[in-house]
Order: sequence, then structure tokens, then C-alpha cells
Amino acid sequence: MTEAPNPAHMTQDPIAGLEGVVAATTSLSDVDGQNGILILRGKKIEDLAGLVSFEEAVMHLWQDLDVAKVSSMVAAFGQARLAAFEVVPLLEAAPPTLSVYERMQLGLAALPLSEALPAPIAISGALPVFLAASHRIAHGKEPIAPDETLGCAKDLLRMLTGEVPPKTHADALNRYLVTILDHGLNASTFTARVIGSTQADMRQAILGAMGALSGPLHGGAPGPVLDMIDAIGAPENAEDWITATLARKERLMGFGHRIYRTRDPRADVLKSGLRQLGQENPKVKLAEDIEREALAALKKAKPDRTLDTNVEFYTAVLLDAIGIDRSLFTPLFATGRTPGWCGHVLEQQQNGKLIRPASQYVGPMPE
Ligand code: COA
Repeated sequence: MTEAPNPAHMTQDPIAGLEGVVAATTSLSDVDGQNGILILRGKKIEDLAGLVSFEEAVMHLWQDLDVAKVSSMVAAFGQARLAAFEVVPLLEAAPPTLSVYERMQLGLAALPLSEALPAPIAISGALPVFLAASHRIAHGKEPIAPDETLGCAKDLLRMLTGEVPPKTHADALNRYLVTILDHGLNASTFTARVIGSTQADMRQAILGAMGALSGPLHGGAPGPVLDMIDAIGAPENAEDWITATLARKERLMGFGHRIYRTRDPRADVLKSGLRQLGQENPKVKLAEDIEREALAALKKAKPDRTLDTNVEFYTAVLLDAIGIDRSLFTPLFATGRTPGWCGHVLEQQQNGKLIRPASQYVGPMPE
């Protein structure tokens, strides 16, 4: 065996992380990282989040796709939640070692799909039920049946706590779910499109996307953001804590982004949501003080690189302020992103070709 790569097979250098490679066309969302603009099917995120419900935003996102037209997405999602609750006994019987996220995947794998509800609706509507039930099971509590008449955000909070949430909390959760609905060709969305391109069914594509999202480089920052805020504890500690962290060459959670070279527009959308909740929560004030100190310190430490607040910073503060446990941040991200994933799978299946890139062989050659 020779160890050297065969030059005849070397056509071009692979692009690390496929950065900058255009691998799909989409009408769903556009991320303009230079200017800090996120567009969801023709509308800026600021013109949707906080102004429309999750269901309305999903209707907007899916409007030209082959999802059977429904007169009311609230009713269709409500029906999907009822159907999903039938699967909950299976989640209760599952081994206690399963995380909330894994139990959600189990529920999705077992979810009966039929002609009655298009798969994107059945799946997107089911995940809030699996999330709430799995959290309650993990805490030894009885799962709560959905109320199909409520909007998804309100019912999700009700299924988690057993109480109808204040309107401000349901509004904040709607704002969060709309904010994260879709975001270009990120790793999990690409995964969903790759699986969809094989004409595998929607369920398999969403399970795969959830797998991609579970990695800490993708969906895992808001929990650590809250840990950082807790570790700082009080505004007067922020400067020293941040300086020491940067001196150890560690990263400040909730700052910086691969695509945005300016402020992530979603950070401000979520920060406005906090203002609407009121400032009585001391953690919100602390977060704002930490953000100010962090931005000043990052500017000093990395003058040539714009490191600004990303979506995860105010995700953590907003979700915490409405009582969502930090262990649910990634499951909730998956719940909000699922209609986006479904949209990409439909687009891929309607317009796309099997995604099958090439690799460059650098192993030994036979004698
Ligand atoms: N805190 C401190 N320094 C940071 C930083 C942060 N949050 N984000 C990037 N940097 C620094 C890096 O250390 C690196 O410095 P170096 O050139 O001296 O090594 C430089 O900025 C560029 O970093 P790089 O990893 O190339 O940036 P990226 O664009 O690939 O990284 C993230 C993007 C999101 C992975 C990165 O900003 C990060 O780890 N942020 C914290 C985690 C987070 O909030 N993730 C959620 C993202 S939505």
C-alpha cells in the first residue's frame, strides 16, 4: 500500500465546513450577515416576531408550499396536539435514562401519521406535547392533556405547569417561537434537506435535524448563557468576571456568530420582548449590565472583529423570565424550528435533486 494520495483523484481542496458554499435555493428565509437582516419569506423578522402568533408565522412561511391549505392553523395544530397525546403513554413507559430531547424523538418516531393531517402539521403540532409531557415525566408528574382550542404557545406553557399562563408569558413565547422559526441553511436545516432529498419521509428528516441540533456548536448556548449570568451574580462583578474569562481565552456565551458580522437582529427582537414583560425581574437588569460590559470588553480584546450579541443571549433571559427551565431550551428551540425544517424538506422534495456531494480520497491506494 502506498500512503500518498493519488494526485489523479485530487481535483480541488474541500471547503472547510462548506463555508460560503451555496447548496440550495429557498424562498423561506435569508440571512444577511453583513447588514444584520433576517427575512422570513419577504418579511423582516422585526415585522413578524411580537406582532403575529406562532401559527400565523407558520402560515406565512408555508404559504406557497404543498401543505394542504387549512383555514385555521390554530385548529390544525390543536388537532395535531390531541393526536400526539395518544402517544404519551409510550413516553411514560420509556426508560428513565432518556432525556427530554430523546423522549421527544421517541414520540416523533411513534407518532401515527395519516391522510387526516399533513405530516408537517402533525409533526410540528406534536412536539410541544412531547416536550411538556417529557418534562413532567422527568419530574415524576402526570402529563397534562392538550387544550386544542388554545394557541400553541399558550397551551405549551399550560401543559408544562398545569396553569393557564398570563397573556404576557404566552406573548413572549410566541415571540420566541416566531423569532427562531427559520434561519437559512444552518447545520440542522441542511441535514433535513439532505434527508428530504432522498425522498425519505418528513418524520425521518425532522428526527435527523433534531440530531444535528443536539450538538453544542448548534443549539446548545442558551443554557450556558444563564450559567454565566448566574456565575456573575451582580452587576458590580461583571467587569472582573468578564476580564478574567477573556484572559483565560475562554468565550463569552451569547456573543459572536458565524454569519452575522454585526448584531444578530433576533437579539433585539427578544430584548424588546423582555421590555414588554416589565423590568421587575432583577435578572433582566443584570443581563443588560452584563451585555454592556461584555460588548465593551470584546471590542477591546478583539478590535478587528465585530463580536456582538447573538440570539442565544436574550433567548436565555427571556425564557428564564417566563419560567422555562434551562434544561428545556434546546427542546424548545427544536419545537420552534420544526416548521422551518418541514418547509425546507418540502422545498427540497418539490424542486431539488438528491444531495450527493463528492469527497476527496486521501487514503492509501492498492498496489
Ligand atoms: N467570546 C470571546 N471571544 C470570541 C467569542 C466569544 N463569544 N466569539 C469569537 N471569539 C473570538 C475567538 O476566540 C477568535 O479569536 P482568535 O482569532 O484570537 O482565536 C475570534 O473571535 C474568531 O472566532 P471564530 O471561532 O473564528 O468565530 P466564529 O465566527 O467561527 O464563531 C461562534 C462563532 C458562535 C462559534 C463563536 O462566536 C462562539 O463560540 N460564541 C460563543 C458561543 C455562542 O454564543 N454560541 C451561539 C451562537 S448563535
